[in-house]
Amino acid sequence: MLNDKTVVLGVSGSIAVYKAADLASKLTQAGAKVNVIMTESATRLVAPLTFHSLTDRPVVTSMWQAREAGIGHITLADTADIVVIAPATANTIARLAAGIADDMLTATVLATRAPVIIAPAMHTNMFRNQITQDNLARLRARGFTIVGPARGRLASGATGEGRLVEIGEIIDAIEKTLQKSADLSGKRIVVTAGGTQEPIDPARHIGNRSSGKMGFALAEAARDRGAEVTLITAPSHLPEPGGVAVVRVTTAAEMKAAVAKAVKQADALIMAAAVADYQPKSRAQAKIKKQSPEMTLELVRTPDILSEVTGSFIKVGFAAESEDLVANAQKKLKQKGLDLIVANDITEPESGFGADTNKVTMIDKEGNAESLPLMSKREVAERILDKVAGMGENPP
Ligand SMILES: Cc1cc2nc3c(=O)[nH]c(=O)nc-3n(C[C@H](O)[C@H](O)[C@H](O)COP(=O)(O)O)c2cc1C
Repeated sequence: MLNDKTVVLGVSGSIAVYKAADLASKLTQAGAKVNVIMTESATRLVAPLTFHSLTDRPVVTSMWQAREAGIGHITLADTADIVVIAPATANTIARLAAGIADDMLTATVLATRAPVIIAPAMHTNMFRNQITQDNLARLRARGFTIVGPARGRLASGATGEGRLVEIGEIIDAIEKTLQKSADLSGKRIVVTAGGTQEPIDPARHIGNRSSGKMGFALAEAARDRGAEVTLITAPSHLPEPGGVAVVRVTTAAEMKAAVAKAVKQADALIMAAAVADYQPKSRAQAKIKKQSPEMTLELVRTPDILSEVTGSFIKVGFAAESEDLVANAQKKLKQKGLDLIVANDITEPESGFGADTNKVTMIDKEGNAESLPLMSKREVAERILDKVAGMGENPP
């Protein structure tokens, strides 16, 4: 797995830095090309020559010196198959979470499309501090894998959480992530996102509270796992993910047309969009004026995209329910001929519309239901893609 892979090993200024030398050595022995980047603090604890001797490659300690030597942070970021930060200090984690890029390590991480693994090492109080916990949650939500820390004896002499995990555990995580980063390679995946808007007149529409976060997380996760992704999105304020073909639509009818076109060559369709069920029967050409105390708006059904778009691709639907979650989702799965349905209870706090987290139950067509705990939408996306990748081995 590691043979011929390019690994950027970021080393920050934790007392556990000496263990990173063993990691650099083991990765090199496994055939990986290991490009070590040390923070300035790390160089105070272990000499760069240690890593240079173990990897037989230049060790970068300064963005400026590296540039002069012809090594740029963008080149390191682009050529990496994976970036591993071990040990990761509270400081480096905070700077990554804030998007700071003022040294070679943080600039490389910000610039890379490769998966990133973080192995924190610090005193228990630093780790347990809510600030560090929030920073780690933020990184996790962006798709970073956090390994550890472990419990045990700390440099201070105390026992607690904060030790760098065993090197073997970091290597396992690297291998697992590398495997995953290619498990959708060559697959074409269409994802829909956002809430459609059905115009009433030139100024108003019928909409819903979908933010697009779940669909965007799915598109990013599928891209990171090697898929060729088309993201068909109803209006959303989220920034367009790089490396994904984005198609912008407004209404359910437009979304249906875009989906029908995109799925022609797709291996999977994941419908995370909140599509309006009804649209105004007619759209007023001019803005409707305020007149009588009551007004009636006549609505008609929108197209049912999931049922109407057919083909030999894996079909995944979402069910936002406020009651009888599993029963309603199972009904929808059968009615729409889905391979998998992801049901979420929108009445739960921190789940569903607009939230960064989601609590879902996945139900497959064999009727197996798996309830996941509350997790970031990115993590939910990964779990859904795990299922899709599994089905890809036995396509419908
Ligand atoms: C001897 C020594 C050991 C340290 N160990 C840790 C540690 O294990 N974890 C941590 O987060 N900070 C540790 N620190 C503090 C960091 O070195 C400090 O926050 C530094 O600014 C980190 O910079 P960096 O993240 O750029 O490497 C240690 C400092 C010293 C002097």
